[in-house]
Amino acid sequence: MSTKNNIPKEFKITETIDQRKYLVNGQLKSWSGDTTEVYSTISSTAQYQPTLLGSIPDMGEPEAMDALQAALGAYNQGQGVWPTMKVKDRIECMETFVGKMKEKRSTIVKLLMWEIGKSLPDSQKEFDRTVEYIEDTIEEYKELDRSSAKFIKHQGVYAHIRRGPLGVVLCLGPYNYPLNETFALLIPAIIMGNTTVFKPAKHGVLLITPLLEAFQTSFPKGVVNILFGRGRAVAAPIMKTGKVDVLALIGNSKSANALQDQHPKSNRLRLVLGLEAKNPAIILPDADLDLTIDEVIAGTTSFNGQRCTALKVVYVHEEIKAEFLKRFSAKVDGLKFGNPWDQGVQLTPLPEPGKPAYIQELLDDALAKGASIKNTKGGKQTDNYIWPAVLYPVTKDMRVYQEEQFGPIIPVLSFTDISEPLDDMAESNYGQQVSLFGKDVYSLSPLIDTLANLVCRVNLNSSCQRGPDVYPFTGRKDSAQATLSVHDALRSFSIRTFVAFKDNALNNETIEQLLEAKVSNFLSTDYIL
Ligand code: G3H
Repeated sequence: MSTKNNIPKEFKITETIDQRKYLVNGQLKSWSGDTTEVYSTISSTAQYQPTLLGSIPDMGEPEAMDALQAALGAYNQGQGVWPTMKVKDRIECMETFVGKMKEKRSTIVKLLMWEIGKSLPDSQKEFDRTVEYIEDTIEEYKELDRSSAKFIKHQGVYAHIRRGPLGVVLCLGPYNYPLNETFALLIPAIIMGNTTVFKPAKHGVLLITPLLEAFQTSFPKGVVNILFGRGRAVAAPIMKTGKVDVLALIGNSKSANALQDQHPKSNRLRLVLGLEAKNPAIILPDADLDLTIDEVIAGTTSFNGQRCTALKVVYVHEEIKAEFLKRFSAKVDGLKFGNPWDQGVQLTPLPEPGKPAYIQELLDDALAKGASIKNTKGGKQTDNYIWPAVLYPVTKDMRVYQEEQFGPIIPVLSFTDISEPLDDMAESNYGQQVSLFGKDVYSLSPLIDTLANLVCRVNLNSSCQRGPDVYPFTGRKDSAQATLSVHDALRSFSIRTFVAFKDNALNNETIEQLLEAKVSNFLSTDYIL
């Protein structure tokens, strides 16, 4: 379980990034105030010590207000250049941006590894998946525009219906996917004609900095404004003004509620939220154990369980419990721990310095209440890690059952009657996804019918996941508000708005002239190829 420093040359930290620029109203402004140092929990030396990566501005209310003013100015109550621009031209700006972004792949991948401890293949995947998401969003927007390039007629009234922007979007992403999930909010918000204020997550901040110039040079001034600092210091004052039209946040419901509460007119505020979850695995007696164990390993341990879609509680049928626990525990102990660039690594350092201690608290609480650790390495700590403990039997009074652990610890419960996990899910505050393992169609079908109404994705003999990104990503209860996917995100960040006219000679003549003159960016039947 060593994290020794065999760091390949290309991944060594040779200089720190002392980020002093931030993007407001099309200008890369210089910051001369307080800063916060950014450390990686990965050591660069044989004797463990966190690695200093650089520093970022610690901004406050005045900068937050500047950014908000810039976004409001660029929107200009719907009259701004960006919200009124032709779809084709907005798409061109986005194409320019993604072209510039691609040039930064190796820098961003290296920072993903150091800042959040994500493995090299997963960091590359996060970058490539984000680029693909942007390219797919562009294609989807063209399709949306093409399907709107027409008139319909009902009861003697013609209509030309499109989707228009909502206004100013405040965008906040999570640390576990600081690029992908943040951009999965930001990109559709921008392309639909909204203007934005964006603050990177608490970890994975420096990796945004290579993109500041790309944002600055690809979009008109004020469309994208990027701030650094604590959410409390910059996001809260922005919300208090009541000028934010959409709060787009991937994180937890506590922060989402706190920010929402700041807005003086909650009826005006639209929400696009991806929040916490406690996705269960339910393993039926006839499950294929080889496949199940592989999927549950992936679901519980990939990126150390720091995924909203991670499997965070495992229900296994009493009949196969002993066999499952034995084989699953051995597999957990066989996983490879190392630094993100180590070949074949599966478990990597935790980016939050306090996380091993928190997981230890959950562990101690469960042990005190009657659970035991089923794997030999479970709970072993190093400077930046705690080995995933397979805990059994877990009961509802344990913190590990109640809290979203978002880290390496695996609670297991057994059941004899399927109503036990179903009742627990119905009672739970969360409703994102479930993984159901089994083969018998007569057992599976009633379960599928129930589970589909308790969560928003039932994964059959497969671990939970967000992707492919064209599929809907959402949840019930405290797990989400609004739906994200390449297609749905364009809808979530826009509203249907249209031009209507009665079918008479004057109107028909006027519309024909409007179309011929090609002077309206909204009213157009041009077909974007
Ligand atoms: O943190 C939650 C992410 O949306 C999970 O995405 O399932 O692709 O890892 P993923």
